Formats: sequence, structure tokens, C-alpha cells
Amino acid sequence: MEILAATNNAHKLFELKQLLAALGISVRGAEDVGGIPEVDEDAPTFKGNALKKAISAAQHANCVALADDSGLEVFSLNRDPGVMSARYAGTHGDDVANIAKVLDALEDCEDRRARFVCAIAVARPNGQADVVEGDVYGTITHKPRGDRGFGYDPIFIPDGDDRTFGEFTPAEKDKISHRSAALRAATACKLFESVLGQPSSADLFERAIAVIPGGVNSPVRAFGSVGGEPLYVKSGTGARFESVEGTQFLDFCCSWGPLILGHAHPEVVDAVQRASEAGLSYGLNTPGEVEIAETISRLVPEMEMVRLVNSGTEATMTALRLARGVTGRRKMIKFDGCYHGHSDQLLVAAGSGLLTGGISSSAGVSGDDVFVAPYNDLRAVREIIHAHGQELAAIIVEPVAGNMGYVCPNDGFLQGLRALADDCGALLIFDEVITGFRFGATTYGHLRGISPDLTCLGKVIGGGLPIGAIGGSAQHMTRLAPLGDVYQAGTLSGNPVAVAAGLTTLRILERDNPYPRLAELGTAARDGLNELLQAAPFPAHCAGQGSVFTIFFGEGPIGDLSGAKACDTERYASCFRSMRRGGVYLPPSQFELSFLSAAHHEADVEMLMSRMAAWLRE
Ligand SMILES: Cc1ncc(COP(=O)(O)O)c(C=O)c1O
Repeated sequence: MEILAATNNAHKLFELKQLLAALGISVRGAEDVGGIPEVDEDAPTFKGNALKKAISAAQHANCVALADDSGLEVFSLNRDPGVMSARYAGTHGDDVANIAKVLDALEDCEDRRARFVCAIAVARPNGQADVVEGDVYGTITHKPRGDRGFGYDPIFIPDGDDRTFGEFTPAEKDKISHRSAALRAATACKLFESVLGQPSSADLFERAIAVIPGGVNSPVRAFGSVGGEPLYVKSGTGARFESVEGTQFLDFCCSWGPLILGHAHPEVVDAVQRASEAGLSYGLNTPGEVEIAETISRLVPEMEMVRLVNSGTEATMTALRLARGVTGRRKMIKFDGCYHGHSDQLLVAAGSGLLTGGISSSAGVSGDDVFVAPYNDLRAVREIIHAHGQELAAIIVEPVAGNMGYVCPNDGFLQGLRALADDCGALLIFDEVITGFRFGATTYGHLRGISPDLTCLGKVIGGGLPIGAIGGSAQHMTRLAPLGDVYQAGTLSGNPVAVAAGLTTLRILERDNPYPRLAELGTAARDGLNELLQAAPFPAHCAGQGSVFTIFFGEGPIGDLSGAKACDTERYASCFRSMRRGGVYLPPSQFELSFLSAAHHEADVEMLMSRMAAWLRE
């Protein structure tokens, strides 16, 4: 475990390193983080100053920071020099002048009792902080003795000894010093426990790789293409999450899209709490699933009937099976770089993690029934249909592609697919797992006035819990079991807790209509980033719409996978790492969308700009 010691005093840093090593904590100094800002030590107490310094350093370096404030209190001098210890004689850190002033002031004084005091504060970047104090009692000599230690050490004899701290070895001083007393107090009252008692991301990843393939439960979380340690998260609120180390991140990934209201929206959390107190799962029907199906159907009239599943993957898998059942055909068209989850038929020429991992089509799947066309290429689709139209069950498409980075459908592309699917008798499936309820309180297809035969939803409609949905006309949907012969089921489908989160999210979206503001924020982010990137000495641009964007390190506009793949992924990785150091979290791959949420503010967009500007200067 690591902590930043907010001190420019090399002696203190050395002492802290020695003391904290015994607690298994390694200490970085101010130099290791490129310096820390000076803080006015104007609080009336040691504790107050320690808190000020720790909070300032934690916020500046975006990590857990420790600061101390220490000094000497001489009882007959009314506890002076006190908080003025370092600058008692006027100049900060002038040990010789400070000592001389104390000895002068005590010249005819019998009572030479004194104590060294040390306050230690630990702070997190979010401003949470705590402080403790430790001390050691002793007397002041008549002359300085010993050349070890620093500050007032040569004139302070701790009780029970006859040498000054200036005559102690560092190891001897560590045992009884006010700083070690403060650290003991910190340990006793568990000051470090909440922050430092936890395993770090590195510790957790090391454990994870022994028991979880690659250490992660979804490949891109391994940060393979951007480098650096995978992150472990402790909590999230609004537009930010906090790692187990206590580092705050401004989140532009938002759990890959579901968190359109930000982390832990109070109304959603409340709904989840109430639902879970009532019971976690029944394997029976609940009122909530009727309500969410009615809500989706009302907001997306093309989805006359809705079946709930547990993920986007299940939704697209079911849609494809239904299309095969309805048409009695097997084959389908998908688009190069579109990702539709990880069911077998759809893991061919897929985007997202497959693209990031450089494998595109998964081992273990045949791809025999899949024709792949470039995105936005109606001519290629026409050619496939010309040769195989009678065998096609479905054309499946992300109506706005997000899994090779943001790629917008050209004018007429989606309408063209609608017409071609009709011509050959295949079903048109819009995979709106990302786009559903992202650009308005409905689907992208509905906003554009294009009706697919089947629509797949996920992400936003679960408000952060696992859910998916498939919907379409009653004619098609009634082919699903138990009415029809296309089987589909799920132990946890329509889970009451997930439904509560999703339904509450949809209600808030309808009630608050955050979309115009989200679009304004998105425009500000894209415009600001483009202004910075245009001045860069390499090709780069930011594309997107509404509350999504991708920073591409290549020429724009990008209309298909070949354009996306031409981008410089190494440069994206460098940008990602720099942002991460600056407390901004982007998706850990060039081939993904960045998301804004209703919890983001203008200041967050400004922070994104300033971190981008900082990276461009690096
Ligand atoms: C467009 C699209 N479809 C389907 C899926 C699969 O959804 P899930 O990860 O919930 O299975 C994703 C996931 O990112 C997606 O982006």
C-alpha cells in the first residue's frame, strides 16, 4: 500500500518512511508526484495545519495523502513556539536561529519542561480526512547537543533519558518520538484502516489472476490495450467513482453506458433497497415486470410486446432465434465491427473487446451462417442479398455503431436496410443495447422514424443492474414460448430488483428529460476536444452525438471499421494513461464509446479539456 507524504522536508520524509515501513506502507514524497502546492500553515493548531496540508496534497495529486504538523511547546513560554516552531525566529526552517531564540527566552528560567507534538492527518482526494496527535515530554537544555535529527532536536531531552534527540540514533528516536507516538495513535484509532487497511488494486489483481481467467470477468477490464494496472473500485457517486486506493476518478465510461443518471442515483438506490428488502427473486411474476414492459411499449410503440432477459447478449441471441423461427431460415447479415454480445452466432467480425483484443472472431464459433458487410455499405448488403436473400433470417445492426468507437449511420443507411430486409423477407433487428434510451426516452429507431422488426435493449433500462429486453410486433413476439414454438426462458428473467432499478431510471428519464442538457454537454465536450486536437501535431478528432463521444487518433470522419482500425491505438493508450493519472477515466480502449451522464456538469467537461491539454503538452 502506498501513501503520499505531503512534506518537502527530507528529514521528515525519511522518518515517515522508516516508521510506515513497519506498518507495510510505502511512502512517496512530494518529488515523486512532481511537487505539491505550498499551503499557508495559518491554522491555530497542529491538527488544523496537518489537515490543511493533507487535504491539499490529496486533492492535488489525486491520491491518499498524509501530512504532519509538528513542533515544540515550552510550558513556561506559554507553549511557544507552538505552531510557529518552524519560523519562530522569522525565517522558515532556520533551525539555528529558532534554537537560539528559545534558549534566549529561557535564559533565567528554571522551568524548562516542554513537549514535542505531532499531528498526523490522512486525507483522500474527496476531502475526507481525519487527524490524530502524539507527543513526547521532556526538558530543554541550556546548549544544543548532538548533530543528528533536525529542528529543535539538539535542545530537547526526552523524559527518562539524559541525551538530546540530537544525540539519538534515528532508530532510537523512532521508538519514542512524537511522530511515532502520533503514528501509534493513528494505528490505535484505525486512522489508516479505512483507506490503507484495504488491499490495493495491484494486490487484488494478483489474487484475481490465480482464480479468474486473466483476472477479470470481462476482457477489456484487464486494460490489455492501454496498459497499467486494472482498477478496483470501492464506490461511486454521481459522475465519479473511487478506487480502493481512495483515488477519485471523473468517469466518462459510466459502466459502459447503463449509468445515464450517474453512479448511485439516490432514487434508484432507494428503489433497489425497497425491492430487495421485499425479496430478491421469486421465479414468479411480479407487478414491476408488467409495469416496465408497459412503460417500454408505451415509449417505443414498435415494441408492442416485450420479453425481459438478463443481458444485452441474451436479448440479441433471442432476437436471432426468433428471426430464425419466424422466417424458417438460418443465415444473417451483421456488420463489421458491430458487437452484439457474446452469443455464438454473433461473435464474428465483432467489435468491442474482440476488436480491442485483436481477435475479431472468437475461436469456438463457426460463422457459417453469418455474412459480414462493412458498416454503412448498402451496396455490399445488396450483393449478399442478391446471392443469398432467400436464406436470410435477419439483418442485425447497431443503428449507431459504438463498438468500434462512435460510427454514425450515413443518411439513408438504416432506411436502406429496412427496404432491403423487406425485399428479401428477412427481419431487421436493431440492437439498441447502447442506443436505447440514450438519445431520448425511447429508441434511436423511433427517434429517426425507422421501425425494425425486432428491437434489443439492455444497459440503460436496467439502471445499473443486469437486464435486457427484446420487443417487436405482437405477431412476431407471440412466436415465443409459451405461446409459440421459439423457446426462451430464464431463472432470473424479470428479476424484481433489476426491474425496480430499471423502471425507476425510465421514470426519471421521462420526468426530468435530461436529454437536451446531455446533448449540450456532449457538444461542449466534443467541440472543446476538437479545438485542442486540431492543434495537435498528429491526426486526431472527437466524434459523437448527444451524450456519447469517441476520441479517435486518426483522420475523420470515420464511417466503418477500416477507418476505425486505421487509428493510432498506442496514442489512445498514452492519452488514457495520462487522463488516468489526472483522475479522469475514459474507456480503456480506442474502440469504445465515452459516456456522459445526467450527473456530469460543465466543470467536469472543463476538467476533461484541461487533462487533454495537459496530455498534449507532455
Ligand atoms: C450494441 C451491444 N449489443 C449487445 C451488447 C451485449 O450486452 P451485455 O454486455 O449486457 O450482454 C453490448 C455490450 O456492450 C452492446 O454494446
